[in-house]
Amino acid sequence: MIIKSTIDRIMEATDIVEVIGEFVQLKKRGANYVGLSPFANERTPSFTVSPAKGIFKDFSTGKGGSAVTFLMELEKFSYPEALKWLAKKYGIEVEETVEAPENREEELRRESLMIVTAYAAKFFHESLLDTDDGKSIGLSYFKERGFSNDIIKKFELGYSPDQWEAFTGNAIKEGYKEQFLVESGLSVKRDNGTLYDRYRGRVMFPIHSFTGRVIAFGGRTLKKDKNVPKYVNSPESEIYHKSNVLYGLYFAKKAIREEDNCYLVEGYADVLSVVQAGIENVVASSGTSLTVEQIKLISRFTKNITILYDGDAAGIKASLRGLDMILEEGLNVKVVSFPEGHDPDSYVRSVGTNAFKKHIEENKKDFILYKASILLKEAGNDPIKKAEIIREIVESIAKIPDSIKASVFIKECSYILQIDERALLSELNKMRQAKAKKDGQQQQTNTRYAPQPDEPNFFDEPDVQEVVKEEYFQEKEIIRLLLLYGSRMIDWDGIANTYIGPFMIAELGDVTFVHEASKLFVELYRQEVENGVLPEDNYFIHHKNKGIVDLTIDLLTTKYTLSENWYEMHRIMIHDEQANMKAAILGAIFHLKKHKVEKILDGLRAELKTAVTETDQEILLNQYIRMKKVEKSISDFLGSVIIK
Ligand code: CTP
Ligand code: MN
Repeated sequence: MIIKSTIDRIMEATDIVEVIGEFVQLKKRGANYVGLSPFANERTPSFTVSPAKGIFKDFSTGKGGSAVTFLMELEKFSYPEALKWLAKKYGIEVEETVEAPENREEELRRESLMIVTAYAAKFFHESLLDTDDGKSIGLSYFKERGFSNDIIKKFELGYSPDQWEAFTGNAIKEGYKEQFLVESGLSVKRDNGTLYDRYRGRVMFPIHSFTGRVIAFGGRTLKKDKNVPKYVNSPESEIYHKSNVLYGLYFAKKAIREEDNCYLVEGYADVLSVVQAGIENVVASSGTSLTVEQIKLISRFTKNITILYDGDAAGIKASLRGLDMILEEGLNVKVVSFPEGHDPDSYVRSVGTNAFKKHIEENKKDFILYKASILLKEAGNDPIKKAEIIREIVESIAKIPDSIKASVFIKECSYILQIDERALLSELNKMRQAKAKKDGQQQQTNTRYAPQPDEPNFFDEPDVQEVVKEEYFQEKEIIRLLLLYGSRMIDWDGIANTYIGPFMIAELGDVTFVHEASKLFVELYRQEVENGVLPEDNYFIHHKNKGIVDLTIDLLTTKYTLSENWYEMHRIMIHDEQANMKAAILGAIFHLKKHKVEKILDGLRAELKTAVTETDQEILLNQYIRMKKVEKSISDFLGSVIIK
């Protein structure tokens, strides 16, 4: 864990406008900065940064928080990753507490492996650009393939000398441990215990994690010999899990988000050529068939995937079945194929960027329809095969969570397959019912399946929902007052001055909050007060818990507080509230209390109805009468204090 004083130093150094400015173009407007939301496609800027508060708020998606939250949302960093990113930016040394021994050891091993792979990437890159062999063999190969210097540098391409120990020997001389050289797959151990280079005489493609660190390599042979494997890739290791990695994602993620689409290709070379042509939102599955993890990785940045596969489409045929999982994830998948003998790399180089883009636009097919047409071609006139295909297609469609989208596909497939739409629909329903049964009771109340007319729907009953909502707002109102006024003094009746926060916390001692974030908020506030501290905005804005951050930002950035005429609104609204501070605070507390008491009374009434023994009834009745009195006194109190 990163220690608190490091976190504090990072927070102090962080200039939120500067950090966000690296990703979003911001313009100054009044005390704030505005820009186009990086989380949504919008024309008029609704994304606001308040340097004074150190927070941002995106009004089009509702996201908001500190610089840390921003990095977590945008770059999908974990909390410590975001902190480390900021620490690096501001040159702050990160101190971490010692973890449980085994975690610590594992963490150290991973770090050591990444240090070795980073060193190797540098070694191969320099050998490509600065050595005679590298230049005449490796670099000239890349040049022949048309890769520019920029691309070679950006992707840190390299060359591994055609000698047994060029890399390994150097690494050992530099003090890198054999253990990590072997575990990362860079070196291979001979029977006699000595090491040799795995990638001799190959051009090197470093593979980056999505935070930009080199975690593995693909090495391509320059020999035409069919017996030599074209690519040799890093083995699985503690830092490289092939199924969780997409080649090029680190460089592509910004463009994927901006374009709201991700092109998926098969090979390293395809990524490089497509990027060089100016299309940056592209990643490669690197020859493996696509995994669920890879899809989830993409879906953090966009819900739209366009698969660009070779002309012969061997790859895609192999993964036709595997791709159903993309549908289950609710993603939109399009497929584009290229003329026989071409892959995206060769095609974009032969026709140029514009024609390439045009080809994609004109040839992209929805995945399901693509699958239908390919399978259909295979089946020919065989009726049994055709029936199998129909089943399979409908199976795919049944996986689409959005039922409207599914019915559109049914329509189109009925056309392609020349089958009556109703037949397909009935097949679809059968599958869904089977699935619903399998998923158990719980799934049946899912919105996907319309409730039966005679089935009571708990949540549609207006009063139930209203009660829940009211409680939620009442609890939130308390939090709002704590945030805005908690550290101020209030003068009760001109006698005693009290801090509002601790006063409210004491008053709320007997109230149980149900809304999770509010509950935690009050708990945290109470803890701080008990430690003798009055927590301010910052404490909650930078809290680790996302629910707390969201709630705080939500309350600090209502339309009024961050809008342009902030000052006017602020003066009027808050002025009123301050004038009636006592009423506002007591009102909020006692309205909530009243609500809770009413809930208890409801519960007691229900219990009374079903109570069997007389003693039970008596106990319940006594409790009921007592609560009724409490309710009455709260009402009286509210009537006397609150003028509303
Ligand atoms: N691949 C692999 N091992 C092989 C062949 C292929 O790991 N023996 C992976 C590589 O990630 C490769 C991808 O599958 O990038 C696609 O294969 P291919 O199309 O043959 O490679 P390209 O990257 O297109 O390479 P090139 O154009 O240089 O032939
Ligand atoms: Mn190729």
